[in-house]
Amino acid sequence: MQAAIELPPLYRKQHDAICDPARFVIIEASTKSGKTVGCLLWVLEFAWNRPNSVCWWVAPTFEVTKTVGFERLAAMLRDADPEKRIWEENTSRLVIKLANGSKVAFKSADNPDTLYGEDVHAAVIDEATRCPEESWHAVRSTLSATRGPCRIIGNLKGRKNWAYRLARLAEAGAEPDCAYHKLTAADAVAGGVLASDEVEAAKRQLPDHVFRELYLVEASDDGGNPFGLDAIRAAIRPLSTAEPAAFGIDLAKTTDWTVILGLDATGTVCYLDRFRLDWQATRERIASTIGKVPTMIDSTGVGDPIVEDLQRGRPNVEGFKFTATSRQQLLEGLAAAIQRSEVRFPDGFLRVELEAFEWESTRTGVRYTAPASMHDDGVMALALAVRRAANRPATFRFRVI
Ligand SMILES: Nc1ncnc2c1ncn2[C@@H]1O[C@H](COP(=O)(O)OP(=O)(O)OP(=O)(O)O)[C@@H](O)[C@H]1O
Ligand SMILES: [Mg+2]
Repeated sequence: MQAAIELPPLYRKQHDAICDPARFVIIEASTKSGKTVGCLLWVLEFAWNRPNSVCWWVAPTFEVTKTVGFERLAAMLRDADPEKRIWEENTSRLVIKLANGSKVAFKSADNPDTLYGEDVHAAVIDEATRCPEESWHAVRSTLSATRGPCRIIGNLKGRKNWAYRLARLAEAGAEPDCAYHKLTAADAVAGGVLASDEVEAAKRQLPDHVFRELYLVEASDDGGNPFGLDAIRAAIRPLSTAEPAAFGIDLAKTTDWTVILGLDATGTVCYLDRFRLDWQATRERIASTIGKVPTMIDSTGVGDPIVEDLQRGRPNVEGFKFTATSRQQLLEGLAAAIQRSEVRFPDGFLRVELEAFEWESTRTGVRYTAPASMHDDGVMALALAVRRAANRPATFRFRVI
């Protein structure tokens, strides 16, 4: 059956985000950037191309699900096919059925228990930052048997929610088949769906941190990040081309990466390498990279023999043993360096890892932690390099007269 109706086209960035081929796509977007409309079209297209499929649209409350999801899709279909040749609606159950046997069911996230049970072929979670985490668990489970795709869309709403954490994982490229996209107000203006004077008015009228979250898609610094989100952003620079003055190396343990990070004499990252290799190859890669440059390597546990081995004939190599206390001190040193603008690094996984850090209060005081699902090896390599750079013996210059 050929599609007999015509629906509005998406603007380029909207299309690239929503139609990313990855199975899970997380889109953090400005308000009024077209995420809801775009994903309604996406789920409709999916349902149309796959006969007898079950698709879900999930939104925070019944009211939002009904008005922002169900009624909008029904209105679009009514415009495109007023005789209802290829679709019909069930207003009491919030279901839209297509002539090919597929259905799009609109569900409320506020009662996650009702979200289990069915095998779902494609799903959208709208306003994800306002949906409870259990609703994501439920939707995820319904997609398992079918291996169906999912679009997770919403505005930013602080950093303490599951959608923010998942977005950071996707952005860091740490999750297979999971992509991250961002649509800002500027993208929506360029795409012709939002007026720039409206954005300017919002900027004047809203508190800065609210405007930044809703329009610029920048998480507000809710005081939960020990490095400071503004300080992290201010430290972003392209990779330096200068020679390394110090290296920091975090060794892979079980599931994470080995990261070799070099800082130049001004504190700017000039070398960044992240890899997974066996110990022999790791040792060789480190040895050939660091040469005689002062280096600090994580020597905890399995790292100990590697560091000992590398230290043979290399007085420039220092080990660092991680304990709860030494780790905290190391990270506090990094936080101070970032806040004093003494260290700069390229955008990418390093920024994402830094932004994910949080304070945690423990019996013995405050601790910096990365969420359990996030890697922190880039941050550790950076902290080790900063420590090693600070540890270098002062060089004395004598002027001979
Ligand atoms: N590709 C497009 N072509 C034309 N109009 C569009 C397009 N995408 C979105 N719009 C229009 O832009 C407006 C905002 O779209 P939508 O509600 O999908 O944005 P949103 O990002 O979900 O906003 P919110 O923050 O309110 O959830 C709507 O009037 C919609 O019809
Ligand atoms: Mg919306």
